[in-house]
Amino acid sequence: MTDFTCIKKYQPKPLVGAIELHRPEALNALSLQLMIELVQAVEAYDKNPDIRCIVIHGSAKAFAAGADIKEMADAGTIEMLERDQFARWERIRQCKTPLIAAVSGFALGGGCELTMHCDMIVASETAQFGQPEINLGAMPGAGGTQRLTRAIGKALAMEMVLTGRMMGAAEALRTGLVNRVVPVEGYLNEAFALAAEVASKAPISARLAKEAVLKAFSTTLEGGLEFERKNFYMLFASEDQKEGMAAFVEKRKPIWKGK
Ligand code: CAA
Repeated sequence: MTDFTCIKKYQPKPLVGAIELHRPEALNALSLQLMIELVQAVEAYDKNPDIRCIVIHGSAKAFAAGADIKEMADAGTIEMLERDQFARWERIRQCKTPLIAAVSGFALGGGCELTMHCDMIVASETAQFGQPEINLGAMPGAGGTQRLTRAIGKALAMEMVLTGRMMGAAEALRTGLVNRVVPVEGYLNEAFALAAEVASKAPISARLAKEAVLKAFSTTLEGGLEFERKNFYMLFASEDQKEGMAAFVEKRKPIWKGK
């Protein structure tokens, strides 16, 4: 049993793993220790066949207010290089299990980038997304310039990165950054319900489909279509595909084995 100091790990529903970012004294700023724990928790869930969807959330006031500025303020280039913090982010990107960010309050800098590492975002009405690094004489480093641009388009991403202005929940919904917006009292339950729905599906299908959707960001249409087809054919080697189609024909609910 691992003792976490910056996160909490719990199971709000069967097959759903939750991770709460918990540094209330720093608005959940993503310190090195928090990132170590977060990666450890994500990877443990990802290896656990009884977890089929993961929800990452913070508090009502802050999802996460960015990387920990106090840890970086005096660091030099070589020290930052040696910390190699982005290797940890890469490990979150490698997670095969669907990831949902449940966001309330501030999701800034690395916090905003963490929401965009997730596959879907459920926001509370108070959510505020932003890449304010420009105000610190820095710039996004955990994928913000790339993922925000892909999510909301060049003009708006450029505005957010160059001015540091925050985007509220309604605008985030309108521009396609988030999946849905709900009152703050209900945002966690909404995210858990969405996670439970994903978790109720055939798990190998979910993993391969996630992988194929993400491929759209890193390849040509032709390459992506080939990749999709390969995953599509691969599923016909699974017991769950046989079960899913047999259940349809027999007019019953399928029972997934994850095999
Ligand atoms: N790092 C370290 N500490 C932080 C922090 C951060 N990113 N954000 C907030 N805190 C700390 C504050 O220093 C403060 O601590 P003290 O009580 O010890 O002074 C505590 O959290 C509460 O914060 P505030 O008093 O500032 O709260 P507020 O409600 O007045 O303001 C806020 C909230 C607008 C989010 C403001 O805290 C803020 O601007 N935070 C910084 C946001 C930011 O610039 N994020 C980008 C970081 S760089 C990055 O993320 C790089 C990357 O891409 C990887």
